[in-house]
Amino acid sequence: METLELQNKQINELRQGEAYEPLPGEQQYSKKFYIESYGCQMNFSDSEIVASILNKEGFGATRNAEEADLIFVNTCSIREKAEQTVRKRLTEFKKYKTNRPGALVGVLGCMAERLKSKFLEEEKLVDLVVGPDAYRSLPALVEEAQSGQKAINVLLSRDETYADISPVRLNSNGVTAFISIMRGCNNMCTFCVVPFTRGRERSREPKSIVAEAEDLFSRGFKEVTLLGQNVDSYNFIQEETGQTITFARLLELVAQVSPELRVRFSTSHPKDITEDVLLTMARYENICNYIHLPVQSGSSRILQLMNRTYTREWYMSKVDQIRRIIPECGISSDMIAGFCTETDQDHEDTLSIMRYSQYDYAYMFYYSERPGTLAARRFEDDVPLETKKRRLQEIVDLQYELSFESNKKDVGKTYKVLIEGESKKSEQQWMGRNSQNKVIVFPKNDQDLQKGDYVWVKVEECNKATLKGQMVPAMA
Ligand code: SAH
Ligand code: SF4
Ligand code: F3S
Repeated sequence: METLELQNKQINELRQGEAYEPLPGEQQYSKKFYIESYGCQMNFSDSEIVASILNKEGFGATRNAEEADLIFVNTCSIREKAEQTVRKRLTEFKKYKTNRPGALVGVLGCMAERLKSKFLEEEKLVDLVVGPDAYRSLPALVEEAQSGQKAINVLLSRDETYADISPVRLNSNGVTAFISIMRGCNNMCTFCVVPFTRGRERSREPKSIVAEAEDLFSRGFKEVTLLGQNVDSYNFIQEETGQTITFARLLELVAQVSPELRVRFSTSHPKDITEDVLLTMARYENICNYIHLPVQSGSSRILQLMNRTYTREWYMSKVDQIRRIIPECGISSDMIAGFCTETDQDHEDTLSIMRYSQYDYAYMFYYSERPGTLAARRFEDDVPLETKKRRLQEIVDLQYELSFESNKKDVGKTYKVLIEGESKKSEQQWMGRNSQNKVIVFPKNDQDLQKGDYVWVKVEECNKATLKGQMVPAMA
């Protein structure tokens, strides 16, 4: 049995406090910025917008915070632990300023939005506080902070999508990239802080999304992931034609950029993913057969308290529909253990829906009450911490089993794999993913290949996390 800590480390391996390499050409800048990102892919994607804005102001990236003129932490508020980690980092960064007078520390993202001026006034941890819709004002805020004033902008917007800002691809493997297609969230899941930190939902203009995909493809990228908190409610009304672009249509437009460009998306809300989206996925080979479909709980009573607006049965029929239309579809999920009033029976319902759905992968958490959310205002956080942890451990253990089962079923099958780079463990091996988003490692065999190439790989063995195989000649 693996420990929870190990599991969480694996989950968060790439997603916690990731700084990044300066890009070629960036060394020329005399002023430097450092940015560290936490939280979801949207936040990582926003850091790429911030980098683009700072580059224009003459700041180049550095991986070393101690030599930076601007130190930014792009923060997450989703669980209490995420906020604690950030606070620790900010305290460390504050110390760097003694050695480097004039350096500024800024907090960006969801925690900035949630705590607003508290950082400047009560905690004096930072010089700048900038919410997720206010990055265009960064240059002015930096100037203000340089002159010793308090610099803060946490206004949320109804229309900001940064559509015209071309993101600087941070830590890129040159093969896969994220494209933000919408911002905010209009759902009111009672446990969730996102609607408060990210504001109202708005969809980005489709032409700018397709143009970004085309630009990436022309620069050698082979896979894009369309990002939003709830991509299936993407909705853009084109002014000229009055035509509505739905998510299914957007998916199709991006898939048509090139059959050589893979398209993924995240996250899907079970209530919003339409048959139209599934049929579009089935029609285009390059739209990957993988859906992240967070269930949160398997108990209809808890789902109602969470305001997820679907029942256990409704979710299960969605899984059936996916399996019917896309038989080879990978499905992953998010689960929260120990939400308010959760009983052992509710927890059993979560375990059984996991078995029913046969998830290939999952992100698993125990409930963390967030100030200001509907759940914090309406319900008591009454499940003891030990119970939350025990239930979470059971969920983690079951998911390990399910992931292993799912991988074992792939042994003997052949997949088209996009090479993302060398395997971490050996220079003699490539690492790539199949359409279902599973990692496959295989020997290079002295063939003249490079990352970004597609190859066919027959799976020969597996463990819980990875498939291993051998290249085989191309299949039709
Ligand atoms: N928009 C996505 C999720 C964004 S947050 C969706 O609707 O699925 C990512 C995950 O964090 C959620 O799916 C949920 O499982 C978890 N999460 C959100 N708030 C939480 C809280 N207060 N405590 C524990 N986990 C939480
Ligand atoms: Fe949060 Fe629900 Fe919106 Fe996801 S859909 S971001 S869980 S409110
Ligand atoms: Fe965290 Fe904000 Fe994303 S709260 S999960 S960084 S939207």
